[in-house]
Amino acid sequence: MSGSEASAAQAKRNVTITAAIAGLAGLLFGYDTGIIAGALLTITPDFSLNSLQAGMVVGAVPIGAVGGAWFASKGADRHGRRSLILVAAAIFVVGAIVSAVSPGPLILILSRAVIGFGIGVASAVAPVYISEVAPPDLRGSLVTFFQLAVTIGILVAYLVGYAFTDVGDGWRWMLGLGAVPAIAMGIGIIRLPNSPRWLLMDDDVEGARKALAMVRPAGAEAIDLEIGEIQSSMGGDTGNWKDLRKPAVQAALVVGLGLAILQQITGINTVIYYAPTIIQSTGIDSASSAILASLGVGITNVLMTVVALRLLDRVGRRTLLFIGVSGMSASLFSLGLAFIGGIPETVSTVLAIGSLMVFVSSFAISLGPIFWLLNAEIYPLSVRSKAAAAGTMTNWFFNFLVSLTFLGLIDLLTEVGAFWLYGAVGLVTLWFCWKFVPETKGKSLEQIDAIFKRRART
Ligand code: BGC
Repeated sequence: MSGSEASAAQAKRNVTITAAIAGLAGLLFGYDTGIIAGALLTITPDFSLNSLQAGMVVGAVPIGAVGGAWFASKGADRHGRRSLILVAAAIFVVGAIVSAVSPGPLILILSRAVIGFGIGVASAVAPVYISEVAPPDLRGSLVTFFQLAVTIGILVAYLVGYAFTDVGDGWRWMLGLGAVPAIAMGIGIIRLPNSPRWLLMDDDVEGARKALAMVRPAGAEAIDLEIGEIQSSMGGDTGNWKDLRKPAVQAALVVGLGLAILQQITGINTVIYYAPTIIQSTGIDSASSAILASLGVGITNVLMTVVALRLLDRVGRRTLLFIGVSGMSASLFSLGLAFIGGIPETVSTVLAIGSLMVFVSSFAISLGPIFWLLNAEIYPLSVRSKAAAAGTMTNWFFNFLVSLTFLGLIDLLTEVGAFWLYGAVGLVTLWFCWKFVPETKGKSLEQIDAIFKRRART
């Protein structure tokens, strides 16, 4: 291996490790959203929760996350992306431990909101941080480490949930164990470089050069070139909230906020949170088949996210969106069919399980990773952390809304109507992607910026 090849390989290793550690933020996100369904089964009788209190235990995380993302929108520019991830890890550890030992519902709800706050900060900042240290040709895969960690977190939560179901005070363990990945992330992040783009916002050219040298092949010229490109794209913007009103930023916000909403209102979390309930309502009353089905959902979600990770920088974001969202919409319509009645129970169960798997696979290669990726890469540097935080807040708010309304929607429209409604939203999403989402594969963040500036002019 020549010297330059060795240096390129070393740089690739460094940037991959950097992204993997920051991506652990996704593990906290996935673990905590995945664990609560299982934990709630025993928290409810332990604390004699009424349904309002149970709803608050679940809803505290997404609502806290909206607040955390808001906080990140201010802190990520002032204190840097890396420091905020560290803060998120610390908040999370405190929240996980307090929730595990909480003496009653009030402390539990408050500590869950604290956990949500940590998750909100982490999910607003970690993808942005990764996108800012990644080279253009690897950015899609590296930012997708975050989503991969989300899916692994959900799967681990399902497994931990089953492992502790029959253990005394099992839910305390389930909640407390969330502190482990947070501690790992906190320790790992200390050794990582700061985002070179953030350093440049702060006029620290020497610091940016050093940070880039850790994650790029040796060669002062290429590094200086990259620094020049970042500096020239910064223009005279000040990075205030009012800069979000600039036409080029608005054009990007249409894409970011649009995908934030559509990622949630196509119903992914109805499946993540309620898979066993959905399977059981097709008629089978075996709890173990229902549990198996939700494990299947978790595993499929992880595996197909790995597929996405390998394809995003090759096939491109748009193609994967078209394929994935079409699959999501089609499978939601077939999931609705499973509830239409008049078909043998085995057929409807097989149809429901098959549809769920296709739905999750399609989400995992499209809206799952691509929303977080685009949300981190489409905004100009001066407003990136604010705009990405706005996308993150929107996403968490709609996450909350969909989980809150799902069961009511079924009462109102029946399963058939509810899933067909989500399927129809899938069709709207397809149109939205075709019309608004640009291809960002292989482009530098500054070239992406130029796409939206052009768009705003026409
Ligand atoms: C979404 C979450 C969802 C998860 C499932 C994420 O991209 O934001 O709401 O639970 O994917 O894998």
